[in-house]
Amino acid sequence: MRILVAALLMMGLSSLAATSIGEVPRQNCSAVTPQTCDIAHALGRGINLGSMFELASVGAKNPLSPDLLRLVVDNFKTVRIPVRWTNNAAPTADAKLDERFAERIDAVVDELLASGRYVILDLHHYNQIFGDRLDKSEFPVSDDVLETRLLKVWEQLAGRYAGRSQRLIFELLNEPHGRMSASRWNTLASRALSIVRRTNPTRVVIVGPVFWNNVRELPSLTVPGDRNLIVTFHNYEPFEFTHQGAPFVSRPLPTGITCCSLDQTAQIINVFNQAAIWNVQTGYPLYLGEFGSFDTGDMTSRATFTRTVRTAAEQLGIGWAFWDLSTSFGVYSPAKQAWHEPLRRALFD
Ligand code: BGC
Repeated sequence: MRILVAALLMMGLSSLAATSIGEVPRQNCSAVTPQTCDIAHALGRGINLGSMFELASVGAKNPLSPDLLRLVVDNFKTVRIPVRWTNNAAPTADAKLDERFAERIDAVVDELLASGRYVILDLHHYNQIFGDRLDKSEFPVSDDVLETRLLKVWEQLAGRYAGRSQRLIFELLNEPHGRMSASRWNTLASRALSIVRRTNPTRVVIVGPVFWNNVRELPSLTVPGDRNLIVTFHNYEPFEFTHQGAPFVSRPLPTGITCCSLDQTAQIINVFNQAAIWNVQTGYPLYLGEFGSFDTGDMTSRATFTRTVRTAAEQLGIGWAFWDLSTSFGVYSPAKQAWHEPLRRALFD
């Protein structure tokens, strides 16, 4: 079985990736500058700081302690910080950022940049713009200021961080979905990018397709004409495995699902085949901004899933960020002050 799976991996990927044995895999970067191409390949192994700054009430549930920050710096090259900016800004069209909140993010960004990490600053969970139910303690805003607020948030963030290292990367919006159709998102993303470009002419910006950054929607993304972009996608396939029993899924999925059968492996490889084809066709480098599994799955399966996805990404020269550090998806347990060893090995060994 193992040999068969390995063969499947090789067949699926080697025909598409422009690599040969012994070389470090590189993606097609014909649409971007050499610097952006280098950054895309330098991102390497990364982690999401999940449930730290993107919950409606930030801070209480999964705080970023100095010890956790050290662990991150010692083990990952890139840190993606999901932030619920829109709930920490005025409800009005100007979306004036809550300064105390923004200063907390500044401190984390600056410490990570000082340590030499790449930092991806991501606008996460703008629920209302997708037509999603609001979380408890999340305030509603008038529908006609929804898009303007997103643009205003980016205007402020872009100004605020304009002088920072080029290792700071902006990600315009996590997982657009629901009412954010492809055509609406294509227009909004391009407007947000042009606002960022007024103060940050060459900083790398990440943009991803609709349907929760699903790889199959890459073709519906109109990438703005700009040579400093990286395009992101997320992979939670096979979803019945990664999200079994997760309470936040609208119709909770049955538990007891293992991973990874030949079919499930093929499903994962298919995701990366689609990614590789799109990269070859467009010349925009790709980034795997999220992948992971909820802790209702058995640990052996979770480790197999994690290793399969990570290996597939690395074979194509695609940098990745695991979801996440220390929630129920996490690779580390703050309570036990220990790694979940099988997951750690699946990411690094
Ligand atoms: C969401 C998290 C969720 C994860 C896996 C992220 O984008 O923000 O709330 O746990 O995806 O579904």
